[in-house]
Amino acid sequence: MATEQKENAAKIIDGKAVSADVREKIKAETALLDKKPGLAVVIVGDDPASHVYVRNKKRGCEEVGFNSWVYELPEKTPEAELLALIDRLNVAEDVHGILVQLPLPKHINESAVTERIVPEKDVDAFHSVNAGKILKGEGTLLPCTPAGIMELLSYYNIPVRGRRCVVIGRSNIVGKPTALLLLAADGTVTVCHSKTTDLPAVTREADILVSAVGIAGFVTADMVKPGAVVIDVGMNRDKNDKLCGDVDFHAVSDIASYITPVPGGVGPMTISMLLQNTLTAAKNIFKTN
Ligand code: GUN
Repeated sequence: MATEQKENAAKIIDGKAVSADVREKIKAETALLDKKPGLAVVIVGDDPASHVYVRNKKRGCEEVGFNSWVYELPEKTPEAELLALIDRLNVAEDVHGILVQLPLPKHINESAVTERIVPEKDVDAFHSVNAGKILKGEGTLLPCTPAGIMELLSYYNIPVRGRRCVVIGRSNIVGKPTALLLLAADGTVTVCHSKTTDLPAVTREADILVSAVGIAGFVTADMVKPGAVVIDVGMNRDKNDKLCGDVDFHAVSDIASYITPVPGGVGPMTISMLLQNTLTAAKNIFKTN
């Protein structure tokens, strides 16, 4: 079993349990509100994995007592039609969060779409205004995966302040915002990527190592400092088509102090953080109305 606990092995960070705890808190807070928070999710095309994600987002909303709407648009939907839908959702009173599932079909400009969502309802925090706020350490809506990582660290009382944090991957969705959140928590942060020379020498410096590469088995034991905290954001398939992360889990769990499994680590946190953002967005909108 991937997540069995050996003596002297790393503690397993249980994303499912933390995620359930976060959802309980959201549900309790939602029950006290006069109006329900509402999330609109838009999906374009037939990508099966994306449809599974969207279904889980809708289920998450039901679980915590939010309204939710799913807009399923055909693959050939013109960009203008998608933008027009976003314009309607931007002004819809019951909608407090808008999420357009990525990736989008090639004929649609992803950036034009994410910039069209009003920042107040941008529960992915992909809009430049929200990205800019995160850069300044002033974000209230935080990108879901990086926020999930910070929540896991906090839940397990893993300190960030003053510690060496190394993030492998520089995507706008995970690597860059994760680095910024670790920095805001007073970590000393290094971002590595495909052009980094002598990557293992850099990753061995890390007290907290975050891998968001998307390659199975990328992080091997020789890249990890004994006692490090290892956060695996990878979502890959191994040779046997089994779901796995970026980290060689068995070897690395022998030397790390904490490690996230895949599945069951960072993954379950992302939808919970989306629900958290939707609640935050709704409360902000209620306050200003
Ligand atoms: N596709 C994969 N991850 C995400 C995400 O976090 N947000 C959106 N909108 N689409 C995604």
